[in-house]
Amino acid sequence: MADKGGVGKTTVAFHVATRLRQLGRDVGLYDLDSRGTSSSWAGESGYFPAYDLRSLQSHAPDHDVVIWDTAPHPDSEIRSELCRAADLLTVVANGDRDSLTAAADLCRALHAEGARRVAVVFNAIYPVGSEGSDCVEAARAEGLPALPCFIRRYACFGRARWDGRAVVDRAYPRADQAWSDVAAVTAALLRVADGGDR
Ligand SMILES: Nc1ncnc2c1ncn2[C@@H]1O[C@H](COP(=O)(O)OP(=O)(O)O)[C@@H](O)[C@H]1O
Ligand SMILES: [Mg+2]
Repeated sequence: MADKGGVGKTTVAFHVATRLRQLGRDVGLYDLDSRGTSSSWAGESGYFPAYDLRSLQSHAPDHDVVIWDTAPHPDSEIRSELCRAADLLTVVANGDRDSLTAAADLCRALHAEGARRVAVVFNAIYPVGSEGSDCVEAARAEGLPALPCFIRRYACFGRARWDGRAVVDRAYPRADQAWSDVAAVTAALLRVADGGDR
């Protein structure tokens, strides 16, 4: 979730679902964005079942883990439903000041709406230097539930989208680093979802 388009919600949701599938989980992806990006990406890949908004309106199949990928500004009805139903709400942010402010506002709103657990994950972090750890530190200083790990900016994420695959599935440059970021973030999300520490 994020109050903004283009922060990487779909990229993160698709890759976390792929990682969960690799770990043997029964995972399904609910695509709540009418553009249908994550359901078409998942459909092309064939890694796990995904459902677009239209099909979800008639039937929402059950899975052990369901990942909801939201539209940039989910309407208030969807937001309260997610706050009620989801074990964990993940707010995706980028490494700039305004993204952090937007994430802080969204976290406050979600808590006010009764969200059980919220985690902030930074995405598209510049791979060189300390942007990622600086963001985590700044977020935590503001009291935000930031994961200790983050996903860096690698061109292979965009390439994988073109190919309808996950970064792990092709020998893209830097795919190993990209996938190890995804694996670390997935493990951290599982810990939070299970009620443990970040
Ligand atoms: N970690 C990343 N590294 C490089 N490019 C990324 C990364 N995350 C997202 N992108 C790119 O940013 C754009 C927006 O990503 P997307 O996941 O569609 O965002 P959202 O779902 O929040 O609108 C896409 O072109 C995607 O390939
Ligand atoms: Mg999206």
